[in-house]
Amino acid sequence: MSRLNKKRVVLIVTGGIAAYKALELVRCLRDDGAAVNVVMTAAAEHFVGRLSFQALSSEPVHTDLLDARAEGAMGHIELARWADIVIVAPATADFMARLRHGLADDLATTLCLATVAPILVAPAMNRQMWLNAATVDNTAVLKIRGIVFVGPDAGAQACGETGPGRMALPADIVAAAGALFPAGMLAGRRLMVTAGPTREAIDPVRYISNKSSGKMGYAIAQAAAEAGAEVILVSGPTRLSSPVRVHRTAVISADEMYDAVMAVVDDVDIFVACAAVADYRVEAPAQQKRKKDNHSLNLTLTPTRDILQSVTARPTPPFAVGFAAETEDLLQNARSKLERKSLDMIAANQVGIEGLGFDSNDNELYVLWKGGEQHLAKASKDVIARQLIGLVADRCHSRA
Ligand code: C5P
Repeated sequence: MSRLNKKRVVLIVTGGIAAYKALELVRCLRDDGAAVNVVMTAAAEHFVGRLSFQALSSEPVHTDLLDARAEGAMGHIELARWADIVIVAPATADFMARLRHGLADDLATTLCLATVAPILVAPAMNRQMWLNAATVDNTAVLKIRGIVFVGPDAGAQACGETGPGRMALPADIVAAAGALFPAGMLAGRRLMVTAGPTREAIDPVRYISNKSSGKMGYAIAQAAAEAGAEVILVSGPTRLSSPVRVHRTAVISADEMYDAVMAVVDDVDIFVACAAVADYRVEAPAQQKRKKDNHSLNLTLTPTRDILQSVTARPTPPFAVGFAAETEDLLQNARSKLERKSLDMIAANQVGIEGLGFDSNDNELYVLWKGGEQHLAKASKDVIARQLIGLVADRCHSRA
């Protein structure tokens, strides 16, 4: 299976004579199973018509940053988030200079600034322009920032000269793009993980929450990304920064987490519910800050929806992994939760022990599934997460 299978590619075409070769590139990407959205700069439209790209990609071509209609369909930020990879082919000297300086005055440059996806650049220009110190300098800076280059090739140029500056062959660009997606244990799989606590408002400034730091869920997101999965992290409020190559959606309350999960769960292969979701929320949070008085205060709490159980109740549920934080009868409670919530796997940890679980850097897990179990001895959450992802990969391959 191609590494680009089911990958979402934003192809930026800038204004050079090699733009016609980008048509062939769209075809190669689609042959490899990728979905392609094409963005053209104004200059690119002087070389190739947008209809050709539209026909080959089967998607409308994006050209304007501030086109209200296009923004309504898929705005620049949405497109930036949609991308698993952004390919700029051909990339002119001018575009590389603008990318280096972080300009955001058109759709193509803005997208490159707004995306967390890897950016692959295939330069194409006159050989003297490629060898010019300014371009050499721009290339070096862009490489330091993690932008990946493919080509240019050397040979006869449209301007009549011979030398470096021809756009890399479409097949080479596809291969370079594929190489950015590691063929790990979870390559080609989409995994969603919830992490952190939720906050349930009492009034505009107060809330009910719990001690979860989010560290375990974030470590799982990172381990899954390292294993080649496409990772969606739905996170309650934490102080952690998102691991690289992970799409993070930030939420506050259990209700918001439920909506964020349900919006995409039918498109994921694996769901890991690591969040410490509040079991209750305040039925009627006050609209204004509550004033202090000397009477006792009663809050009516109402149960939140169980996200994990709603996921396993889907018609075709993903491989579902739950967590069980227990203060007593750990294994017995975890086994019954495995069955009650129709899970494929559950990771149980004893809470209330100094140095383990909530808000600490270490953890110890008992991982249970139908017909098996494994103890993951105390280690850092990063190590535990990698071991857990190994078990998930094994079990979900044997289920598939
Ligand atoms: O039943 P209990 O809350 O102990 O189950 C814990 C598991 O269920 C965890 O995986 C947690 O993320 C998930 N959960 C959920 N939605 C809730 C409550 C718990 O997804 N509202």
